[in-house]
Amino acid sequence: MGVNAPINRKLRMGLVGGGQGSFIGRVHSIAACLDNRAELVAGALSSNPQRAKQSAPDYDIADNRAYGSYEEMFDAESKLPDDTRIDFVSITTPNHTHFEIAKAAVEAGFNVICDKPMTFDLAQAEELQKAVEESDVVFAVSHNYTGYPLVRQAREMILSGELGEIQAVRAQYIQGWLRTKLEAEEQKQAAWRTDPSKSGAAGAFGDIATHAYNLGRYMTGLLPEQVSCHLKTFVEGRQLDDYGTAVIRYQNGGLGTVTASQISHGRENDVVIEIDGTKGALQWRQENPNEMIVRQNGEPHKIYTRDPNAPYTNASGAAASRLPAGHPEAFFEAFANVYTAAFDAMVQRAEGGSPARRDTVYPNVYDGVEGMYFIQQCVASSDQDAAWLPLQHDAARK
Ligand SMILES: NC(=O)c1ccc[n+]([C@@H]2O[C@H](COP(=O)([O-])OP(=O)(O)OC[C@H]3O[C@@H](n4cnc5c(N)ncnc54)[C@H](O)[C@@H]3O)[C@@H](O)[C@H]2O)c1
Repeated sequence: MGVNAPINRKLRMGLVGGGQGSFIGRVHSIAACLDNRAELVAGALSSNPQRAKQSAPDYDIADNRAYGSYEEMFDAESKLPDDTRIDFVSITTPNHTHFEIAKAAVEAGFNVICDKPMTFDLAQAEELQKAVEESDVVFAVSHNYTGYPLVRQAREMILSGELGEIQAVRAQYIQGWLRTKLEAEEQKQAAWRTDPSKSGAAGAFGDIATHAYNLGRYMTGLLPEQVSCHLKTFVEGRQLDDYGTAVIRYQNGGLGTVTASQISHGRENDVVIEIDGTKGALQWRQENPNEMIVRQNGEPHKIYTRDPNAPYTNASGAAASRLPAGHPEAFFEAFANVYTAAFDAMVQRAEGGSPARRDTVYPNVYDGVEGMYFIQQCVASSDQDAAWLPLQHDAARK
């Protein structure tokens, strides 16, 4: 069977962001190409046109497809023949630029993988949702934690009722790198993340609580009803929150918490989720992602390891694994699993089909909207001394 059968060719990627000195663009390029289903052929790699072109050889992008801006890239690529033009655009730039780039890509007919948070604010997210609905493009949001094999395993276990009714979700994303006021030292990643004109209305909550919230929604399918949130800025002079906790009331009566920190000494990327159901509870931690603990009163605690061949591994867990058990899989592979699911839809589209838009394996534009609504309501709640505010949005994934 050929690559991406039935189209039997690699999908062609255009990368926006990822220039020299940046972080996540390189991860996208590796994840997209991991399974030999895509090749990076074009890029607008930096906000600085000169640096954009200078960065292209780092990715083996040919000179004639190293563009100075995303506008230039979309314009030039749109004019190329079908068998050359990019199929999808990966947006790996700071938050305030996502909307304009994503909307232009969608309107030009390119599929999109956009990093999170999807836009700068909710109004932009809703407008983007409309643009996606009016097009036939595939649109994914890189909430990459949803791609871990044991997260997919847990999701299938939960959705099939193995844990009973889900009553509590505790999600946290704890970092320590902004304990120091790195923005004052003009550290690139810190500078825009703590600047409200670039990051959006929230700091840590926009940057990492959105991942933790999305993970709980993805794994449990519980629909949110209300949120009460308390955000704090502990580092003096910082413009946005660097710590916070949200409490979520779910529509089934369940309770969730999302805690995010960027000021906890020694903590790296500690994404932890614990889910309590009436028949069992589970716990997964991204810093030890090939293990998951499942507990039931009166039973020994069970440690599930990522093992595509084990009898306890369900179809979702097995499909998301590449290596035999014991060879650690982690960040790149999980990221690639978001791409893989989106590629399946892109191939369907390229064949003239209409891939599903909602409830996809990959986080989609509706999840992106939900993420922006979550940020907006958390900030508003915190501004009102943690008042309970609605958290139901039409975009919500079932
Ligand atoms: N999914 C994840 O795990 C994850 C991890 C880190 C960052 N992110 C998200 O990815 C995005 C980028 O974060 P980062 O830490 O890589 O930022 P970064 O500052 O390291 O890199 C941003 C890059 O985008 C470029 N850029 C800015 N505006 C541009 C434009 N208009 N056109 C082309 N390039 C442009 C910059 O020049 C730079 O190369 C953010 O939205 C962030 O929230 C996601």
